[in-house]
Amino acid sequence: MSTLIELRDLKKYFPVNNGLLHAVDGINLKIEQGKTLGIVGESGCGKSTLGRTVLGLHESTSGEVYFDSENIVNCSKSQFKKARREMQMIFQDPYSSLNPRMRVEELIAEPILINGIYKNKNEVFDRVANLMDTVGLAQRLSDAYPHELDGGRRQRIGVARALSLNPRFIVCDEPVSALDVSIQAQILNLLMDLQDELGLTYMFITHDLSVVRHISTDIAVMYLGKCVEICPSKELFKNPLHPYTKALLSAIPVAKAEMRHKKIEVIRGEVSSPVNPKLGCRFAPRCPLATTECTIDDIPLVEITPGHSVACLKV
Ligand SMILES: Nc1ncnc2c1ncn2[C@@H]1O[C@H](COP(=O)(O)OP(=O)(O)OP(=O)(O)O)[C@@H](O)[C@H]1O
Ligand SMILES: [Mg+2]
Repeated sequence: MSTLIELRDLKKYFPVNNGLLHAVDGINLKIEQGKTLGIVGESGCGKSTLGRTVLGLHESTSGEVYFDSENIVNCSKSQFKKARREMQMIFQDPYSSLNPRMRVEELIAEPILINGIYKNKNEVFDRVANLMDTVGLAQRLSDAYPHELDGGRRQRIGVARALSLNPRFIVCDEPVSALDVSIQAQILNLLMDLQDELGLTYMFITHDLSVVRHISTDIAVMYLGKCVEICPSKELFKNPLHPYTKALLSAIPVAKAEMRHKKIEVIRGEVSSPVNPKLGCRFAPRCPLATTECTIDDIPLVEITPGHSVACLKV
């Protein structure tokens, strides 16, 4: 299996009034070709900023992004453009990411036309028809406007647009969070079928652990810009090691009656500020296991068992 995406000490800081907001603060990870890495964590922990920085939609503060073994942070404009075509994004809210004045076929054709893929207009519209089939949109909808469609169909347009340039890697940023539960499963199944058919590699961002469990090969847990734990998805649910991951998992609702008495570990206190953060574990102020040593220096991710890394001195 080959690595398609590799991040080395990737950082994105935003200048704000009172200093630097460390939205993404030294992320190291790899995604194998054809696999899905889930990114989970509370609102504001830097998931979207990470996805956008990987794609170059935010300029990184420092660090490296390798796509197919090539560092695309410091490469030539033409190399970046070529790589970027193969790296696309699916957004959370398909309604606000689609121009309301464009019809379905125009929306799907737009990236193809901008990139000048085909010379002939008929070829463009053949490709659009083909993409509509691929994502399960009936051809009769090609003249419809986004407001005439339900959320699931709108998201299918988002998926078709992302696929239009034959990408190999897609950042899916909360692609089902805005959808009705009944439609979420349809879109997740579509994404998984497309992955099988086209060999796609996904970074799948969500705050919903039950969704990420369904779709991910591996999962990275983020807390205030840092990755605190990363391992195969099954392992994370079976054997979470970081106190933050344990608390996140214990908060998932369970359907089984015998599990209902299970104690939910409530995370105490507030998330600290990401502006000019102090050294040490960012979770320490809320962690039941924290001691002074946790606040002295940043805690690196350490591989505890093969493929399972955690950033915690108490593990
Ligand atoms: N353009 C920006 N300028 C300044 N700060 C920003 C900018 N974009 C994001 N941030 C800040 O960076 C941090 C991470 O934000 P981000 O949107 O990446 O979080 P998230 O994990 O995607 O949250 P959510 O689950 O709510 O989508 C937050 O503190 C946010 O306020
Ligand atoms: Mg987000």
